[in-house]
Amino acid sequence: MTLTLAQITDTHLLADASALLRGCPTWQTLQAVLEQVGDCQPDGLLLTGDLADRGDAVAYERLREAIAPFNRPTYWLPGNHDDVATAEQVFHAPWLQGPTANGLQSIDLGAWRLVLLNSVKAPARYGEGELSPALLTALTDTLSTHSAQPTAIALHHHPVPTGIDWLDQIQVQNATDLWAILDRQPQVRVVVCGHIHLDLHHRHQRPAADPIAVYGTPSTGLQLKHPNPAPDHHRPGFRLLTLNDDGSHGTRVVRVGE
Ligand SMILES: [Fe+2]
Repeated sequence: MTLTLAQITDTHLLADASALLRGCPTWQTLQAVLEQVGDCQPDGLLLTGDLADRGDAVAYERLREAIAPFNRPTYWLPGNHDDVATAEQVFHAPWLQGPTANGLQSIDLGAWRLVLLNSVKAPARYGEGELSPALLTALTDTLSTHSAQPTAIALHHHPVPTGIDWLDQIQVQNATDLWAILDRQPQVRVVVCGHIHLDLHHRHQRPAADPIAVYGTPSTGLQLKHPNPAPDHHRPGFRLLTLNDDGSHGTRVVRVGE
């Protein structure tokens, strides 16, 4: 058995559906991405933050209406552009699950466990991320309780460097605290993030366990340019993450137009 999640990230929707964000029609590009998501028939959706560019309720409402027809469980977490309280209000539905007051949500997917982390730092100077002490304690607790279940962690900010200096200044500021926990939890196999607007694969080596695969994912709208860009790096996209019952996983980025 396998379970496939579609990671949709950094939609940056605006109050006006026809408005451009630095030249990008984010609502139109999202619709094009969602068409391709539909073709892939995922079992669930994973929204990893910066869902509304300026935290407008109408933008969250439009996103909720756009994904409702998938009729799939949907997991979400906020990014630095989001208004967390507004998003929580709009996403208050049985099929939508996000972090609770301690910043964490732990979801039983069957063979696998999915843990959502709220990495938004408030206030932040430049959109940098942080994991609060309460969240780190809750993360240790949930991983210790479910130590036999292969686990994927999702958060907005990247916990590993991309090699792009300005971007790495706004990553998770206390990423070493996160890795200190994950290094002691062999069942954690995957970390996925948004925030970087590009496709990133990284292997985090651990002293006493297999490496953790770390994936960053293209935005559904605006893309950043990696120092070594793939030929299609400019195209909006999403990530498919396939979680197998035996604890292995597969993943690939799907871009609009493929
Ligand atoms: Fe973003």
